[in-house]
Amino acid sequence: MKSTFQKYGYREIQTPMFENLELFTAKSGETIIDELYSFKDKGNREIALRPELTAPVIRFYVDKLQMEPKPLKLFYFGNCFRYDRPQKGRYREFRQAGCEIIGTSTPEAYAELIALAYTILTNVGLKDIQLSIGNLNILSSIFKTLKISKDKQKQLIPLIDKSQFEEISNLMQEFGIKNEEVENFLDILQTSNIEKISNYIINDDLTKKELSYLKEILNLLEKSFEIKDYKIKIGIVRGLDYYKGVVFEIDAPVLGAEKQLCGGGAYELISLFGGKETSTAGFAIGFDRTILALQTERYQFPLEKIDVFIIPVNIETIDKSIEVTQILRNNGITADIDLLRRGMSKALKYASSINAEKIVIIGPKELEKDSVTIRDMKTGEQTLVKINEILKVVK
Ligand code: HAM
Repeated sequence: MKSTFQKYGYREIQTPMFENLELFTAKSGETIIDELYSFKDKGNREIALRPELTAPVIRFYVDKLQMEPKPLKLFYFGNCFRYDRPQKGRYREFRQAGCEIIGTSTPEAYAELIALAYTILTNVGLKDIQLSIGNLNILSSIFKTLKISKDKQKQLIPLIDKSQFEEISNLMQEFGIKNEEVENFLDILQTSNIEKISNYIINDDLTKKELSYLKEILNLLEKSFEIKDYKIKIGIVRGLDYYKGVVFEIDAPVLGAEKQLCGGGAYELISLFGGKETSTAGFAIGFDRTILALQTERYQFPLEKIDVFIIPVNIETIDKSIEVTQILRNNGITADIDLLRRGMSKALKYASSINAEKIVIIGPKELEKDSVTIRDMKTGEQTLVKINEILKVVK
């Protein structure tokens, strides 16, 4: 994940594990406190463990990075805390790998951002992922046309988020919306056909502009970044309150209920934190869920192994053994040495338990000839090797 972020020109940032509670309530209001681990510290300050890293990164940006050349591309890897009801794939402490891009909103910037999220998840070895792209401005313009008030939107949005179409239909009818309009709306929520969406949205210029901007992003994503496997989903609502405009999610269907691996999009927080407003967008990947998805797809995780395990045959050969270990380590080889002064058979058993590929046995007889014995753990083959040739042979 880290190397893919770096390949796309992102630089790593670290922020504290806790922040002032206010940072997280500023946008979402007091109701968010139920979902946070918050407490008073000894100085009577209201503190919260971070539930995510976007607000902390933007706080840091406003404090220290506003003068940096744009765009600023920052990535992070860190643990987050949410007072959720724990279940498979949903934990109270979990890790996120994510990024924020500050200072650009060109279609190519957002196409690259979506491509990066998708590429990270395919690069880690996942086979089956689903990318969906939406736009909150288009959704709110639809709400406006249907004359659905903010209060009513609050009731409707959780149902849209869960794709509960029957419940959506019932609630809209309760709101007094005509049957035909409800049917059309449900149709738009379920279509990935951009032309169908275009034909449905005929109202204002702003929405038309937003739609053609979305088309530009999709065009670049397909033609230049060669990511064709995505769906348009106007019903992406995202859980956090700071999003505006383009949003996207990546799911791993193998996970069932908690299948969302990644969420992100364009958002506004800078001016709220007292900075000079500029465009911001980003995403975060749930690291634990990614591991779960890989396990479910039966991904073969690489074994933790060590290149060489060194065994001093007796106390007299410890000095020389450490010397050999250090030569190997200083030349990029992972090497460990027996630190328990064990007998040969126990030392060999330990070496095999840590998946050592080769064993270097250093005894007085070998040392008389300026040599050591190297044993290949796979084949069992043993060879006498001159000390000054160990590195070459091991490599
Ligand atoms: P989010 O959708 O709340 O977005 O979280 C991103 C990902 O973190 C989710 O898709 C999921 O994989 C993982 N995740 C969330 N909650 C849990 C949990 N309780 N247990 C395990 N995994 C979880 C954000 O956090 C935004 N800050 C993303 C972003 C960055 N938007 C713009 N920039």
